[in-house]
Amino acid sequence: MSMFRLPSQNLKSRSKKPIARIAVLCSGGDAPGMNAAIRAVVRTAVANNLEVFGISRGYAGLLEGKLAPMNASSVANIIQRGGTVLKTSRCPEFFHRTGRAQAAKVLKAHKIDTLVVIGGDGSFAGAHLLSKEFGINCIGLPGTIDNDIFGSDDTIGFDTSVNTALEAIDRIRDTASSHDRLFIVEVMGKHAGFIALQVGICGGAETILIPEYKVPFGSICKSIDRGIKRGKLSSIIVVAEGYRGGNATEIAKQFEKKGYSAKVAILGHIQRGGAPSAHDRFLASTLGAYSVHAAIHGLKNVIVGLENNQIVFVPFTKVISKKKTITKQYLEISAELAV
Ligand code: F6P
Repeated sequence: MSMFRLPSQNLKSRSKKPIARIAVLCSGGDAPGMNAAIRAVVRTAVANNLEVFGISRGYAGLLEGKLAPMNASSVANIIQRGGTVLKTSRCPEFFHRTGRAQAAKVLKAHKIDTLVVIGGDGSFAGAHLLSKEFGINCIGLPGTIDNDIFGSDDTIGFDTSVNTALEAIDRIRDTASSHDRLFIVEVMGKHAGFIALQVGICGGAETILIPEYKVPFGSICKSIDRGIKRGKLSSIIVVAEGYRGGNATEIAKQFEKKGYSAKVAILGHIQRGGAPSAHDRFLASTLGAYSVHAAIHGLKNVIVGLENNQIVFVPFTKVISKKKTITKQYLEISAELAV
């Protein structure tokens, strides 16, 4: 695991803003490393003489005024824990202006200068509107297992979830090989195939199916047949839950219609839990610390991300208007590796 290069934008050359209070929340699906990010935000704030508030249950808790002061001890012993001590939620009220108006009212009543939002692109879209409509300064930290945030090559939780899914696939491979079976393993990713692609390559999958590309069922069968012809008796197909050609159960049924027998394993939410990997702890700790330094130096309405191994600040407008693309060559490589 390498250290990241620090931002090319020298924060120290910017004049410091007189901010006194920040708040932090988690939003959307939880991701391993969110606790490490909360810890980094709180500790960096305390080290720089800021007051810091934790908001429980994301935007939903914010609307209800669920803010509580935090200090260095509030985040002791959480760096290694999965989930989020602040809890998280998906908040439909925040899609409406009235919801965001209520959120702004609560933040202003508590004299919060900057809100740090740990979450995915939907959460950043909400933060963007909160700043645009009501002048609330926000900073985003990319926290999602899906790794689908434009402006950051990596997201907090992705590495851990890939490792969790991989461990499961290695186990499935043992039993698949003992019984000469075909397994369809479904991993998370409704709209993005980053988890499936990485897990599939690392797990030696015959075929990887992701939401971004639909493959004719005939070619999936061909890849299995090719293996059988060269004496391969067990195979693994990795499919992302949002694959447009069907989920794992539907694909297994298609195989059955063609006379193959296929077992299904849906990994589901186990990919969201567990202790964060060293990589995710480092990512969360460094980006978390920089979110507070960014706020102190007057940056607002940006995410703190990672591009080409360097910490970067990317405006919300860019992050929410663009889609991070899958590198198709990796799919091609995976097909060659399974030949
Ligand atoms: O957080 C991202 C994610 O895990 C996606 O991969 C998945 O499609 C979705 O969340 C599931 O959300 P929920 O836990 O709300 O069902």
